[in-house]
Amino acid sequence: MLSVERLTKRFGGLAANEDVSFEVGRGEIIGLIGPNGAGKTTVFNSLAGFFPPSSGQIRLDGQPVAGLPPERMAALGVARTFQIVRIFKSMTVLENVMVGAMLHHRAVPAAIGKAREALRFTGLDRRAGDPASQLTVAEQKRLEVTRALACEPRLLLLDETMAGLTQNEVQEAVELVKRIQARGIACVVVEHVMEGIMPIADRMVVLERGRVIANGPPRAIAEDPVVVAAYLGEEYRAPGP
Ligand SMILES: Nc1ncnc2c1ncn2[C@@H]1O[C@H](COP(=O)(O)OP(=O)(O)OP(=O)(O)O)[C@@H](O)[C@H]1O
Ligand SMILES: [Mg+2]
Repeated sequence: MLSVERLTKRFGGLAANEDVSFEVGRGEIIGLIGPNGAGKTTVFNSLAGFFPPSSGQIRLDGQPVAGLPPERMAALGVARTFQIVRIFKSMTVLENVMVGAMLHHRAVPAAIGKAREALRFTGLDRRAGDPASQLTVAEQKRLEVTRALACEPRLLLLDETMAGLTQNEVQEAVELVKRIQARGIACVVVEHVMEGIMPIADRMVVLERGRVIANGPPRAIAEDPVVVAAYLGEEYRAPGP
């Protein structure tokens, strides 16, 4: 469904992404990992249309989409969350989700219906009337996922939605990603929380200094000496069979 082909993004002299290639199939979960500054969020910014890549191509169902603006990428079914949550704190939870729903439902009653459905799906419906500022960190992250889901995406880009969560909250976030996948939505998941992404990823793509250094199933990635040296360290051990 998504094909990233030799994607390169330069900021002045720095190549934040260089020749990054990977593919995402319909309904797949892809883990995108690597050290701080490796270029993970930059990949999301290119995929979501926040800036045009310097070179390379992005294809959705074979159609070239690199360089399209965010509203076009959203209309084509690409939705994202932000590493630093960008919710509208003065608005209610429901209103935040309506912002996403209005992408495809311009009429307010329809947008409310769609937003409520998304809130029920993510379990935030009992908070619908509360100001977003009153949410816990975990709920704020879940609200961003809900708003993205209300855009009815085919491809969801999740940027560190498990960061700062307790172990129980990470497990809840993992369950949510699996339920999103069960709806046929593909997810690219940027995470530093390995116990959150490793068990659910179909494949892992590892970035270091803007380049892909490994791409494969989680178990192989966890044991890849190049990945262990560059990022995982010795302390991460894949769960036993
Ligand atoms: N808009 C920008 N202008 C200039 N440099 C940028 C910009 N965005 C990112 N960079 C640089 O590109 C490199 C990759 O950054 P990016 O945010 O993609 O890394 P990351 O893998 O998401 O890191 P982290 O795990 O810390 O979130 C970094 O050196 C960063 O400083
Ligand atoms: Mg980042």
